[in-house]
Amino acid sequence: MCGIVGYVGARQATPILVGGLRKLEYRGYDSAGVSVWSEGQSRVVRCRGKLAALEDKLVKEPAPGTIGIGHTRWATHGRPSDENAHPHKVGAISVIHNGIIENHLALRQELAASGSKFTSETDTEIFAHLIDRAVRGGAPDLTTAVRQALAKVHGAYAFVVMNDKDPSTLVAAKNASPMVVGLGDGENFIASDVTAILSETRRILFIDEGEMVTVTRDAVVITDFDGKPRTREPKVITWSAMQAEKGGYKHFMLKEIHEQPRAVADTLVGRVDLERDDVVLDDVKIDATKVKRIIFVACGTSYHASLVGEFMIEALARIPVEVELASEFRYRDPIVGPGDLVVAVSQSGETADTMAAVREAKGKGAQVLAISNVLESSIPRLADWAFYTHAGPEIGVASTKAFTTQLVSMALFAIYLGRRTGKLAAPRARELLAELLQLPTKMKDVIDHGAQLQVLARRYGNAHGFLFLGRGAQYPIALEGALKLKEISYIHAEGYAAGEMKHGPIALIDEHLPVVVLVPRGPNYEKAISNLSEVKARSGKILAIATRGDTDIGSTADEVVLVPDCPVELQPILTVLPLQLLSYYVADFKGTDIDQPRNLAKSVTVE
Ligand code: AGP
Repeated sequence: MCGIVGYVGARQATPILVGGLRKLEYRGYDSAGVSVWSEGQSRVVRCRGKLAALEDKLVKEPAPGTIGIGHTRWATHGRPSDENAHPHKVGAISVIHNGIIENHLALRQELAASGSKFTSETDTEIFAHLIDRAVRGGAPDLTTAVRQALAKVHGAYAFVVMNDKDPSTLVAAKNASPMVVGLGDGENFIASDVTAILSETRRILFIDEGEMVTVTRDAVVITDFDGKPRTREPKVITWSAMQAEKGGYKHFMLKEIHEQPRAVADTLVGRVDLERDDVVLDDVKIDATKVKRIIFVACGTSYHASLVGEFMIEALARIPVEVELASEFRYRDPIVGPGDLVVAVSQSGETADTMAAVREAKGKGAQVLAISNVLESSIPRLADWAFYTHAGPEIGVASTKAFTTQLVSMALFAIYLGRRTGKLAAPRARELLAELLQLPTKMKDVIDHGAQLQVLARRYGNAHGFLFLGRGAQYPIALEGALKLKEISYIHAEGYAAGEMKHGPIALIDEHLPVVVLVPRGPNYEKAISNLSEVKARSGKILAIATRGDTDIGSTADEVVLVPDCPVELQPILTVLPLQLLSYYVADFKGTDIDQPRNLAKSVTVE
């Protein structure tokens, strides 16, 4: 998830671009850059690091001019570095990009074979080469050249392009990544979202999927990718700047809950090979037949994701899995060594306990795979291989989109292993991969029904505690739901394996204790229903998360939240969503500081 800004008008572009990028740093901050045209050519100034590093560099290397583009990066392909920072310039063409070009490897090979020289590891530079070739190939204008290049790329993108030979025009294209155009007087703006340009204009054109815009200081022309004109009425934005940074949502956490379908779709891009019923993991070269045991090490929500991963991998690859709290593993002189694959799961890639667990495992001869959301963070750098989620920066302390993209990564990894151990046949793999690709739509369906959880939050938000129950892969979701609730609403909550009720927790049940039970259809359904009856018999209040079409659950549960059906192995990715929303609305009802709860930090880099 990166931030893009463009400006064309009569004022100096660089201060406007940098000001916009500062508002977009929440979208990514591992490098930044601008390309601004003056006196015959554009000057690219870019560097690794936060925006402040770019501002320092601009003092030494000014970029004058009244047309330009700017970018702040959240690396997905190509580590954070000066060379991989945007804008990328090839010949007279400067490009900035937010998204992922899915067929980047094939395009890079094709271009290199015909003489293109690359200076970065990014997928974006490929697009600059394609446009440069189109222009040199005789495209009559930049819009046509961009259109020709777009015909060759697949994936999610918001591009902005500038041509030194036509310094009055910016051309942009949008597909599955956000983009808006701001309208000024004798000047116009392009940006990832309203946040970047709200201080310059409140008149905004929202660009739709599959649209291009050609922007000069006096005109904005919208077409589809075939050149057919599109009309669009400007909206006048009334949000405050802070509201705009949250995309109009009240909190970053709610925004990030709603971003999950996109984050999951981005995490799947380029990794599902439906032709070979397999998973493509670019940088992971693990010989699954030599892996005798997998040991997950993680903390908090990442630990819960690992517990789900255990079910997925044992079900689909039949490799024994253990899951360890990193803070325990690191001090236990663990029995681990060659033949073991340790999988370190960490959104931030900086958690001290997980880092120490990785060091412990490597010191004893195990190989390590890191699953992280931050490219080139410490834990992936220490590991032998890295598998990145593409959730984009997660600002809310309570992890949501990082969690569901971790679950999707676990599913991809389980399928990858299963196809190599021979335990997962092609037809079953094909079914699971097709279902994974449908998840973003199903997730959006659940999230769009969030109002029901708001009602439940008001009804039960004064409870002194909550109990969350689940069986099988739903047990880790019960743990996650309890963690979400307690960390942002400060209400005590416990997650329990539903089968454990009779071994103690049932003593807690009374009419004041809401019990959230995860009971999707599947092999554990009947047993979970019997657990519900135990709670019902003791006047407990039951909130059931069940599968759409279940017409029996209502006779036992006081409240029912239904989620779409999907294979049992993928159900946790849907059943966690109502729990995220419930915890959010309970906390909102109680008025706690949802994005920065008391006593908590987003990344626990100390013991
Ligand atoms: C999740 O809601 C919490 N904020 C916390 O448990 C978090 O998951 C844990 O600190 C691990 O962080 P990591 O994934 O960055 O390693």
